[in-house]
Amino acid sequence: MRIGILTSGGDCPGLNAVIRGAVLRGFAAGDHTFVGFRDGWRGATTGEHLVLDRERIRGIAKQGGTILGSSRFNPFDNGGVERVRANFADLGVDALIAIGGEGTLAAAQRLGEGGIHVLGVPKTIDNDLNGTDYTFGFDTAVQIATDAMDRLRTTGDSHGRCMVAEVMGRHAGWIALHSGMAAGAHAILIPERRTTMDEIATWVTDARARGKAPLVVVAEGFIPDQADDPHSERGLDAFGRPRLGGIGERLAPQIEALTGIETRATTLGHIQRGGIPSAFDRVLATRMGMAATEAVLRGERDRMVSLRGTDLTTVPFADALDELKTVPAERYAEAEILFG
Ligand code: F6P
Repeated sequence: MRIGILTSGGDCPGLNAVIRGAVLRGFAAGDHTFVGFRDGWRGATTGEHLVLDRERIRGIAKQGGTILGSSRFNPFDNGGVERVRANFADLGVDALIAIGGEGTLAAAQRLGEGGIHVLGVPKTIDNDLNGTDYTFGFDTAVQIATDAMDRLRTTGDSHGRCMVAEVMGRHAGWIALHSGMAAGAHAILIPERRTTMDEIATWVTDARARGKAPLVVVAEGFIPDQADDPHSERGLDAFGRPRLGGIGERLAPQIEALTGIETRATTLGHIQRGGIPSAFDRVLATRMGMAATEAVLRGERDRMVSLRGTDLTTVPFADALDELKTVPAERYAEAEILFG
């Protein structure tokens, strides 16, 4: 078979390991060849591609980013199924492995309905995709955030300040929950948990009373419970999308005003997505790539690879697309015990 691969949406540590795993699994299975489409769905609709031979994939598992490039290009605004089908015919591509998040998997599902042989590999540092226990990239992001918080704590200690760390997580607080637990945060603020400014101030003053420099971790999608119209203050970015991030900078002066403790905020932003993947993510991503090729060669289609426990399997796209995987109340309650 000739199998196409693309990486689409926001990048994520481990994408290159998926590509390598998929290609090497195909080479081991027989006389299969691979092409990579450039910049996600853009390459699949324009035909821009590179050949993924042994030379091209050598040593890439440890590289951050994606050798294929990525974009948030929507194939359905740009010729859709027909253009993809025509390019596949020209290049002799029989099936596609689409590596991406919610938007990518939804597009893959639609292309599948249009008759294209497609299999998905779930990707997001946010770990908020249903249908799989974990996504690669999450472990790396949590490690980066934890390292940053360990550093914030020592400077917070030196100056007796409250330190606020803003991490990624538009809709779900998984990175905040895990890095906050790992770093011993005194407050973890996530979109799933309604929290008032008074509650935050109490956590911070209690930590100070115990002689600590308070550490607050906040997910970018968190909104304090008191705001009348929380979305209005965010505004829109240059592309007309709701502005993300900045909640840490907005919280810091409010915490300082309520507690009298000097407070500083740091936004980690895309540092969480850049750089080399952790060993855990390299292994998970490699196995996911291998599982994707195996599934394609078995003739499976319209499904995505999924981690269940320590085993890899496949599930229908719908399992990931029905709703996002948010932090359950009991997981938050478990972390909250550690604030005190
Ligand atoms: O979905 C992953 C994610 O990293 C989110 O946590 C974050 O809000 C978003 O991507 C940022 O996207 P972009 O790179 O397009 O600004």
